[in-house]
Amino acid sequence: MLDCQANSVQRWLKRCGLLTTRVPSAGLPPAWMLAADTRSVRVRFWIMTDKDREKWDSRYLKDIGGSGPSLILKAFLGLAPCGNALDIACGNGRNSLFLAEKGFIVDAVDISTVATNHLAGRDPNINVICQDIDAWKIPQNRYELVVNIRFLDRRLFPMIQDGLRPGGVLIFESFIGGKKDEYCLKQNELLQVFQSFHIVYYEEKKSDHSDTFDQTVSLVAIKTDSAV
Ligand SMILES: C[S@@+](CC[C@H](N)C(=O)[O-])C[C@H]1O[C@@H](n2cnc3c(N)ncnc32)[C@H](O)[C@@H]1O
Repeated sequence: MLDCQANSVQRWLKRCGLLTTRVPSAGLPPAWMLAADTRSVRVRFWIMTDKDREKWDSRYLKDIGGSGPSLILKAFLGLAPCGNALDIACGNGRNSLFLAEKGFIVDAVDISTVATNHLAGRDPNINVICQDIDAWKIPQNRYELVVNIRFLDRRLFPMIQDGLRPGGVLIFESFIGGKKDEYCLKQNELLQVFQSFHIVYYEEKKSDHSDTFDQTVSLVAIKTDSAV
């Protein structure tokens, strides 16, 4: 295991062509951990995203947020066969709790310790995972439903596709129209990414729950048998 200055490690990883993990655009990640997976002789890298965790923890300490599920989830849940669900960046767990109530077994992943502690133990059908989603591998062919609300990490797109079973439903809501590409989708981007799915609903509209981003985009899509 190696723990050293992020900049030099970053440069070294780039030279080796191994820099595939997200690097925060501003500031240094506080620690890098390098570990060898001896079974596959593959070397994997994790960036400890303590900064993201701290940022979200301090927000949740001030305000843990509301409890009602997202409207789009409520509206389209009926399309998903009951079974396993993944709630990406679950936050305080408002959507996971709703899903568990409706009979789903939920994997709820979020980087915030405060938010996941708030959710932990609230329902036996929710498996709370406090982790940077970048470092968590979405299991393949496992979910009847994947929910991604008010969060964006493009690296997850292929894993979301693989994680859903055929017939499984994706409910995605995030932001567009902002200045930072990292946090905001482009017009029609989701339609392109999930073009092999059956698109049930797509909308780009003025946001009613954010001061920072002026538009939201919503997509509901079903993984078809032939989806790649
Ligand atoms: C705007 S909140 C949305 C929470 C929830 N999806 C909802 O609709 O209530 C964004 C969430 O993303 C989480 N998050 C940010 N970066 C993350 C990461 N790298 N891995 C996992 N969760 C992350 C934050 O902790 C926060 O809970």
